[in-house]
Amino acid sequence: MRMVCITIGICMLAGLSGCGGGPKSAKGFTLPDGDIERGQAAFVSLKCTDCHRVAGIDLSVAEEEQGMSVRLGGEVSRIKTYGELVTSIINPSHRLPEGFNEEEIAVDGESKMRNYNDVMTVSQLIDVVAFLQSRYELIEYEPTDYPPFLFDDKVVATK
Ligand code: HEC
Repeated sequence: MRMVCITIGICMLAGLSGCGGGPKSAKGFTLPDGDIERGQAAFVSLKCTDCHRVAGIDLSVAEEEQGMSVRLGGEVSRIKTYGELVTSIINPSHRLPEGFNEEEIAVDGESKMRNYNDVMTVSQLIDVVAFLQSRYELIEYEPTDYPPFLFDDKVVATK
């Protein structure tokens, strides 16, 4: 009986936290394939470069005009999903990236990123996401190599 109660409790929590696929869940979200080159062109024409530089390419435009240069792309331990990238673009304040001084990238918790929702076409969004995703590079996870634990010159534990 107790187990049943715990199981029901966990299911309810999962439902509340949105993992269970409520009306606001991202379940079923898919984008058609975007075009990387068109995405790069849109990234420049929409002036994303005012505040962003992209790892590995020189977009040769006046960067840091806004006094910041948030790097997109580069080495990551997990590639950003389409869903995460779309969310960052259409709802920038949803989650501020780690590793930045919050004062530089946000004002009162609100991202300094421009709102593009009335400016960008859906095709541009799809292409920009394809372009950005292609700029992330997955670094293989390297497990830490722990030396064997020696006690009295005998191996007590290996891992
Ligand atoms: C006025 C400055 C500004 C402009 C213009 C701008 N951004 Fe941003 N952007 C930011 C800031 C600041 C952040 C970090 C805070 C955040 O996540 O909202 C950010 C974050 C992002 C992130 C998430 C980065 C991460 O590591 O989580 C993506 C993706 C992004 N921007 C894409 C774009 C695209 C695409 C455009 C053009 C359509 C654009 N941005 C234009 C300021 C800007």
